[in-house]
Amino acid sequence: MDESIRHLYQEGDVNFSEGRGEWYSQLNPQTLEWLSRDAAVFLHQSLSTPCLNVIESCEGIYLTDINGKRYMDFHGNSVHQVGYRNSYVTDRLKAQLDILPFSPRRYTNKVAIELAEKLVSLLPASLNRVLFAPGGTSAVGMALKLARRITGKQKVVSVQGSFHGASLDAIAVGGEEQFRKYMGQLYPETIFIPQADRYRNGPDQELQFAELLDEVLTRNEDAGAFIAETIRNTDVQIPSKPYWEKIREVCDRHQVLLILDEIPIAFGRMGTLFAFEQYGIVPDILCLGKGLGAGAFPIAAIITKEEYNIAGDISLGHYTHEKSPMGAAAALAMIDYTIDQHLIEKVQADESFIRKELTIFKDEFPMIGDIRGKGLLWAVELVKDPLTKERAVEEAEAVLYYCLKHGLSFKVSQGNVLQLCPPLIITREQITDALLIIRGALQSVQS
Ligand SMILES: Cc1ncc(COP(=O)(O)O)c(C=O)c1O
Repeated sequence: MDESIRHLYQEGDVNFSEGRGEWYSQLNPQTLEWLSRDAAVFLHQSLSTPCLNVIESCEGIYLTDINGKRYMDFHGNSVHQVGYRNSYVTDRLKAQLDILPFSPRRYTNKVAIELAEKLVSLLPASLNRVLFAPGGTSAVGMALKLARRITGKQKVVSVQGSFHGASLDAIAVGGEEQFRKYMGQLYPETIFIPQADRYRNGPDQELQFAELLDEVLTRNEDAGAFIAETIRNTDVQIPSKPYWEKIREVCDRHQVLLILDEIPIAFGRMGTLFAFEQYGIVPDILCLGKGLGAGAFPIAAIITKEEYNIAGDISLGHYTHEKSPMGAAAALAMIDYTIDQHLIEKVQADESFIRKELTIFKDEFPMIGDIRGKGLLWAVELVKDPLTKERAVEEAEAVLYYCLKHGLSFKVSQGNVLQLCPPLIITREQITDALLIIRGALQSVQS
């Protein structure tokens, strides 16, 4: 290994690998210099240290690095539905910046009220009470506090391996070891049930996972809430309608609140404005974030029912940037753009196209164990052997770096799942170009 870059990858996680080493060795000295400065000044943490590259600008579906190389961004931390620097958004933000960039918390402001009203107007009538926060993790924290206040119960049921944010309260209900390691005792006390994974466990087993919730709640009368992503973002787990109907029924029967975390997947990505619409269920508390701020400003929200507007004597959030006029302006612009430009209909058409193309890939490349997706969120799962389903981790990494070198950026999840999450504004031509790069990568790895 080149000694000049050794210090860039000292963390014991996915960022430490031969593939990453080779990636650094082809970056130019100017980029390596910036990466070194980054690594020298920021606290190191897994997943984001060391960084992959240094970016200069973004536009539409593209990130551009400091050497002018462009990447189609099929990751975007799930904030980039309407594309980067969308003028619908930036014009509204520039105007807002000139009038009211910040709103002290004891006051309210028109744009925040308009956003809350807009969200309520788009949701089922029973979801009509809103609270904003500066980020998704904080929204999850507010949801957990509200659930305790409503039910008087502290235990929560969650799904193994799930992620709901990085703070102590959010990791208590998140199952990712990387976030929980060394953290000692976590509150709320959480009971984890397995993820209903249709690829590994088979579609027929799915309802058994929902029945597990019933068993757990029967044994734990002190559990007040069940929290889950409607569709799991990281490795794209898409439950069936009967699964969610059963979960809703179980929660109702046990008088347990259903908290749905749609922070990465709401606002059209799944082919509907909100994912839960596809399951004919309504959550008791809905968490939104990420793309709500249109890839420009951090803003998140919880939305719940009138009957749960009972916490007036405590502070659920009380965040300095609670009713952020900039966040609200970005969110309103994002929603208007999504609706005015008929993005949801477009996403539905893109889903059919991608499904068809990836199905052809699956026939062509035996290393693809599974393809799954909805709207514009897709997973291509690579396996060493379709029978054993052993994860093809090195192969997935090789595919990733091939794609990065050819101008396509995405995330590998669970070691072997290529997660494809493009902006919703992507054109059919751009989708085709991206799929061609992935095909080239699969060919190069398979040969
Ligand atoms: C499902 C889910 N919930 C919560 C969060 C936390 O959101 P934030 O990073 O804005 O705090 C994330 C972030 O990745 C997420 O994917």
